[in-house]
Amino acid sequence: MILKEKMTTYQAALEAEMRTLFHADGSEMPEPFYGMMQYHMGWVDAGFAPDSVYAGKQIRPILTLLTCAAAGGDWRKALPAAASLEIMHNFSLVHDDIEDGSPTRRGRETVWKVWGNAQAINVGDAMFATAQLAMTRLIDVGVSAEIVVTALRRLNETCIELTQGQCADMQFETRDDVTTDEYLAMIRGKTAVLIGLACELGALIAGADATTVSHYARYGIELGLAFQVIDDILGVWGDEGKIGKSAESDILTKKKTLPILYGLAHSPALQSHFEQSANTPNFVADAVKHLDSAGAKAFAEATASRYSEEAIGHLQAAQPQGDAASALDELTVLLLRRQM
Ligand code: IPE
Ligand code: IPE
Ligand code: MG
Ligand code: MG
Repeated sequence: MILKEKMTTYQAALEAEMRTLFHADGSEMPEPFYGMMQYHMGWVDAGFAPDSVYAGKQIRPILTLLTCAAAGGDWRKALPAAASLEIMHNFSLVHDDIEDGSPTRRGRETVWKVWGNAQAINVGDAMFATAQLAMTRLIDVGVSAEIVVTALRRLNETCIELTQGQCADMQFETRDDVTTDEYLAMIRGKTAVLIGLACELGALIAGADATTVSHYARYGIELGLAFQVIDDILGVWGDEGKIGKSAESDILTKKKTLPILYGLAHSPALQSHFEQSANTPNFVADAVKHLDSAGAKAFAEATASRYSEEAIGHLQAAQPQGDAASALDELTVLLLRRQM
């Protein structure tokens, strides 16, 4: 259980780093500008009083710290990058919840649901800039200027790919002819590249050679693809109590997730069902029945397994070292079996 031990140490350091960035030392009630950001991070409630709620799985920063250690580096040097990526991820969630009209995230009301879209856009903007500042703190822990610039460049390139993925995801909602290849390009953007960057930067900061950095990056990307396919499965068959978000909204918005795309291609019954308005009674339950009879869940599970195997292959090729290597193995398995 080396992972648990490492996560306890890493998460404490990560939270301290992120609290500094969000002016959240807990000594006084934040003004609303910081309060709304701190609410999203799980540190205050909607009235800005101290709170401590589930702040997400934090897989991106954990991956950065673990890959840095496994590639022979000191994880503390990668902490600013880990914080930056987690903040960038959280920025994308605040805006994603506006875009998707999602009322809940991590078991609480979303920022737009509490303060409205206009303020949620502000919160996201400030978090985006904070993620950039977070990355510049690498210089303060002794990382070379060359690596800091590379990290910032990769952060922004990745963020553009992420936004492009988000753009495609929304376009797909009103299209009936989305192909599996288009879907894969979309999830690569919206989810996989940031997870890939988490692993890439860990190895880069450790001083690994280009081939090793590239294996870590590919490990993260394939893991991210599997992760998103699993997210799609949970979006239909997940337990709302565990996933902290609705297990109906993907069907209600007729989102083109992998199991739904497969169902539409293989079940004429689902196709005609989706031609009706989602406001009809039993719309979700009936859609799930059609998906089940089409074998959509099994298909998505097989796809996730294929990506997982690819991910594991690249991780082995990166030759991770020490107990961080065992922790990475443990984390990979956990993510692939996740129910949340
Ligand atoms: C949710 O990401 C959005 C996706 C890219 C699937 P996570 O599942 O990592 O969200 P948290 O941070 O753990 O809540
Ligand atoms: C979120 O994707 C991905 C990003 C924020 C980039 P989804 O919209 O599919 O994820 P959830 O279901 O809201 O977490
Ligand atoms: Mg969403
Ligand atoms: Mg979305």
